[in-house]
Amino acid sequence: MVLSMTSGHEDSLLLLLLPTTSPLPPLVAALFLAAVLLWLSPGGPAWALSRCRRPPPGPPGVVTALSSPVAHRTLAVLSRAAGDSGAALMSFSVGLTRLVMSSQPGTAREILASPAFGDRPVKDAARHLLFHRAMGFAPSGDAHWRGLRRLAAQHLFGPRRVAGAARHREPIGEAMLSDVAAAMARHGEVPLKRVLHAASLRHIMATVFGKRYDNDLGSSQEGALLEEMVTEGYDLLGTFNWADHLPLLKWLDLQGVRRRCHRLVQKVEVFVGKIIQEHRERRASGVVLADEFTGDFVDVLLGLEGEDKMSDSDMIAVLWEMIFRGTDTVAILMEWVMARMVLHPDIQAKAQAELDAVVGPGAGRVVADADVARLPYIQCIVKETLRMHPPGPLLSWARLAIHDVHVGGHLVPAGTTAMVNMWAIAHDPAIWAQPEAFRPERFQEEDVSVLGSDLRLAPFGAGRRVCPGKMLALATTHLWIAQLLHQFEWAPAAGAGGGVDLSERLNMSLEMATPLVCKAVPRVQV
Ligand code: HEM
Repeated sequence: MVLSMTSGHEDSLLLLLLPTTSPLPPLVAALFLAAVLLWLSPGGPAWALSRCRRPPPGPPGVVTALSSPVAHRTLAVLSRAAGDSGAALMSFSVGLTRLVMSSQPGTAREILASPAFGDRPVKDAARHLLFHRAMGFAPSGDAHWRGLRRLAAQHLFGPRRVAGAARHREPIGEAMLSDVAAAMARHGEVPLKRVLHAASLRHIMATVFGKRYDNDLGSSQEGALLEEMVTEGYDLLGTFNWADHLPLLKWLDLQGVRRRCHRLVQKVEVFVGKIIQEHRERRASGVVLADEFTGDFVDVLLGLEGEDKMSDSDMIAVLWEMIFRGTDTVAILMEWVMARMVLHPDIQAKAQAELDAVVGPGAGRVVADADVARLPYIQCIVKETLRMHPPGPLLSWARLAIHDVHVGGHLVPAGTTAMVNMWAIAHDPAIWAQPEAFRPERFQEEDVSVLGSDLRLAPFGAGRRVCPGKMLALATTHLWIAQLLHQFEWAPAAGAGGGVDLSERLNMSLEMATPLVCKAVPRVQV
């Protein structure tokens, strides 16, 4: 329950609550009053129990919005209710967890760019999925985290590697076009989410593991298991777990999160362990593929020597995180883009005109990676989708104050969880003209970077923990969206009531609550 904002009426409340002839024993009455006062403090009980005497403005009580499928919207309303300074920085409590949330670019920058917020709070599920040893949760002060970022930048996400990964993106994109055509031939409509998810998973498996799944992923036993593991991991990390905020509950595991994590980790260890073993055997037989174009990230990790050498369980954590982080985010972003294309035929037609001018009309050839630089309007469409439907509206994984620090003039004590509501910033009418209108042209009028330098639109975060996969994600999304739009005309499926349901559901990422099903008609018959 979220209580409404109060402004220090505690004294009068005390008088009301202290009748002269209290039926409660004095100790119980005093404890009860103390609990009420804690509850009513601005920012709620977790702030009242902290050293901080003047927390940023925020609702009293315990906020349960984080468990809502539209948490980003509820929190945006709460921040606005706390006034201008609340939008800049709002304090609130979730159980015993003390949080601040920024909904303005200035304080968002202070949080994301500051080394004081270089760590992340590690959820119980993340710890049990071994992610505290992977890049996303490892403490920023550790040489392990710095080493991982360096390695990933050199061997996975650097400009040359992203360009080199076109040899995976292009054929996987073409296979996706065939999947679309096959679904149309079989069912007369395309369940796009499934097609996009399978393509995205194939892509990450090829880039990180050097593993190819040429046929329908779901049809091979290994592919089906992989899909199941990614979905389960997503669900576990996306589930709001009260045990993260009420320490006593941790031991009870009422939501069964630990049990499920334990089961999943066993499967992941077998699956990823087998791939590592295959690489080891190949290397032992003298075939080492760790060059710019043929090596993969497993080879890179296996090639580490001396102090950098990793244990198998660390390698499994790092590799698994890549599959996990890289698959759904891209598929979800693409599903939103395509939903917008179905909803706005005029914008779709404009993108297709751009494609025809650059690539040539329809069946001639499929869009290639080298074409993307000459498709600025399609890039604007992707940006506008990132603004309206950021896959991580609360920037997915929060930050943790390592030491006391000031944000927006407020003291934020060490141990406070800090979040940025990027969705609220990207929908703020004081920042964006007509924020509710889907208008890619706004980025033709003003070029805004989405890579983290401009906090009006930073869907990949910013600062030292900015998403390392952002260039790979954008390269993949641009190419595949261009391929889909070049090859097909997109329209709503007949059963969808002629429309697209844009309702949202926030799990780990902001998904479409009703998966997109549409019709794809070849633009030029081959
Ligand atoms: C549309 C696609 C994607 C979006 C919107 C996205 C968004 C994000 C965001 C918001 C963060 C937190 C940044 C911060 O705290 O400042 C993040 C972190 C991360 N992302 Fe992405 N991401 C995407 C794709 C990818 C891909 C393709 C990969 C890898 C294959 C990836 C790997 C990671 C990792 C490892 C981290 C943790 C970095 C760290 O804590 O040091 N992401 N991402």
